[in-house]
Formats: sequence, structure tokens, C-alpha cells
Amino acid sequence: MDQNLQFPPGFTWGVATSAFQIEGAWAEDGKGPSIWDTFSHTPGRIIDGTNGDVACDHYHRYREDVDLIASLNVDAYRFSMAWARVQPDGKGAWNQKGFDFYDRLLDALHAKGVSPHLTLYHWDLPQALQDTGGWTARDTAYRFADYAAEVARRFGGRVATIATHNEPWCTANLGFGNAQFAPGVADAATAVQVSHHLLLSHGLAMSAMRAVNPAAGLGIVLNQWPAHPASDSAQDKVLAELEYAKSVQWYMDPLFKGRYPELALRAHGASGPKVQPGDFDIIAQKMDFLGVNYYTRAVTSADPSPPPPKGGRGFTDMGWEIYPEGLTELLLALNAEYDLPPVYITENGMANPDTLDGHAVHDHARISYVRDHLEALSAAMAQGVDVRGYFLWSLMDNFEWNSGYAKRFGIVHVDYATQQRTLKDSALWYREFITRMRGRK
Ligand code: NOJ
Repeated sequence: MDQNLQFPPGFTWGVATSAFQIEGAWAEDGKGPSIWDTFSHTPGRIIDGTNGDVACDHYHRYREDVDLIASLNVDAYRFSMAWARVQPDGKGAWNQKGFDFYDRLLDALHAKGVSPHLTLYHWDLPQALQDTGGWTARDTAYRFADYAAEVARRFGGRVATIATHNEPWCTANLGFGNAQFAPGVADAATAVQVSHHLLLSHGLAMSAMRAVNPAAGLGIVLNQWPAHPASDSAQDKVLAELEYAKSVQWYMDPLFKGRYPELALRAHGASGPKVQPGDFDIIAQKMDFLGVNYYTRAVTSADPSPPPPKGGRGFTDMGWEIYPEGLTELLLALNAEYDLPPVYITENGMANPDTLDGHAVHDHARISYVRDHLEALSAAMAQGVDVRGYFLWSLMDNFEWNSGYAKRFGIVHVDYATQQRTLKDSALWYREFITRMRGRK
């Protein structure tokens, strides 16, 4: 099947998670509450009524989990730090016990030869900062930079990369645009202003970390998709352009060109961001890498209930269309439009209604999904896109935000009643695939 696939020597193979989705221990060892603790403790917010109090209990089981990661024969592990664990109020005092946890985690990873890739912000803002405005307040961007500098000082020599944000589009649009995510606000203009503060906080954090001069490469992780019109109608085509401008270009243009895309700015009109002089100089800094999370494409239609797209490869358990060729298209488009640093695919994977069958999980749909996306990735690389690594989302089943535990993204199955981990067929396949790719010259 994959005879033609080839990845360069030194290509990084990894798996990914995030703090809130796996750690649990939500109020232990001095950790402060985060907006996701508050949100998931609020009835009606999470589809299955669950929360992150225990999750995969990774806080206590990290050694076993690192062994699991190492057993997959991957090079690298992408994870995030819970800001409220290391700085309970998001400003002021540091919590040494919180840092100690990440210290032990890094030790365990290094002992197994697994390279750590750290994300600073994967959505779990300290609640105390939310109480003073959260990302609607410009000041939060400065608090984030303080946090980033401290982490870079302590860990900058022990991790391969540090990403400032994970998917700021989601923080802004799902957290403040449609209230699906914490903190649960639905206000279009607020979402736009939040996106600006997130970009600003990225830039401020980059400068603050550079001042510490860490060995780690610094960058950001964006979720991206190509946007296609559902039909040939002029209206659908305009909507597709607008969708791309409001999602991909809305983040890429400020970061790489120092301005917002005209089309989206015009569409936002009076709800556009309040930008202060000098903001774009802060935002548009040279990055060492760009992380791209890819799951699906967007299909736009003026019809409020359009027929499903005709891609033909079906949909995942999230209802997301399986569209691997969109990864090639996206990467080629980015490469043509921007002066890109090396790229990592920091997330790619699928939710599948997996069930245990004795000691196995036969998730063959996931194997096809990943293999097809790796083919699409390799096609983009063959056409000149400099991609250095691929992180499968996710290492294990975990708390899928407002979907709770109902959606399973892992290549390792988690039985939440017993915390038993079981390698799915996709995990066995991924290990074998990586080993085979490494052997190819
Ligand atoms: C993006 C997010 O970064 C991650 O937290 C989430 O679980 C996956 N996509 C799947 O939705």
C-alpha cells in the first residue's frame, strides 16, 4: 500500500496530548482552577456531563504512560503544561510542586530517549485571570509572556520545541464566538478582539522567551483547513474565500506579513479588532517552526442545510469529513503564500467509536485515515514543503472537550473505570509503519 512513501532521515514521528485532556488531579499539589474546570463543572456544558477531574489520571500514571509512548517506538511526544498548575492565579507566585511534575515527566521522557515538544497554552486559562477579563483583557497577553519566560528559563534547555498557543482559532471562536468551549461566551466582536489578544500574547511570549535564549525552537500551532464551495455558485465561492480568510489567513497574515487579511477585515466591519500601534511588530516575529493541525476541510454553502459533500471517504465520529488530499492542498497553498519556517504536523487523527474486543481494538478506519494523510503529507513534501515531523492525535483516548469522553481519538484505548490502557490495532500499525519508514533510504 505504502511502497512509494518516503520520509527523510531524521523526520520526527510522534504522538500528542494536552494537559487538561489527560492529567486529572485538577485540585492537587496547589494547582489553581482553570476555565475548563469551571466550564466542565457547569451543568449542561459537556455533552455527557463529565469533567476533567480525573481524566486519564496521567498526573499519577505518567511513568506508565511514558513507558507506553516509548513502546510505540516514536521519537517525540507533544504535550502541554497546565498554566494553573505552575502559577495558580496566572500571575504572581509560582507553584514549585507544579513545576516538579513537569520536571519528573521530562526526566522520564529523556530516560526513554523520547524528545519532548511542549505547548504553553492548550486552552486551560487560570480561572483567576478569567475573573479579571481573561483573553478579552489586553493585560492577559502580558501575563502570558511572564509565564512563557519562566517556563523557557526552567525548561528551555530540556525540550525540543515550545509552542505558545494551540489552535488560537478555537480559543477565540469556540470559547467566545459560539460558547461551545470555555469560558462559554457567544459574541462575535468579542471573539475577534480575543483573537488579537492571543496573537499579541504569542508575540510578547516569543520576545520574552528569546530574551532567555532557550535551546528549544519557538513557534505556534494553528488549526487549518482549505475551504471549498459546496457548488459552483458565485455565492458559495465567495463564502469559501471568506472562510479561508477568517480562519487560515486571519492568523497566518499577522504572523508572517504583519497585517490582517483585507477580505476578513472588511467582513468584520465595525466588529474588527482594536489594534494598537506597534502590535504587528510584536506579532510578526521570526519563528523557528510552524505547527499545523489538520483534520478536515471546510465546505461552504449559502444553503442553510446543504447536501453532504461528495468526497466519498466518509465521516469520522465527530461528523468531520475525511479528506486527506486537503492536507496536500493546504500545505502547498501555505508554502506558496508565506515564507514558512520548518513545519510540523502537530496533530492529525480521528475519533472512532472504538470498543474493546477482548484485549484488542480493531480500529481499521483509523489506520486508513492516518495512512491516507501520511500519503497526502508525503505528496506535499515531494513538492517542496519543508515538513520535519508528524504527531498523531492522540496517544490515548481522553477528554474531548465539550464532547466529554464520548469521542475516542486515541491509538491507545482507555477504560475510564479501571484506567486500563490497551494498544489499539492503529498503535501496533503506527509502530510498525514508523520502523519501516526509518529503514528506508
Ligand atoms: C484539536 C485540539 O488541539 C485537541 O485538543 C482536540 O482534542 C483535537 N483537535 C480533536 O478535536
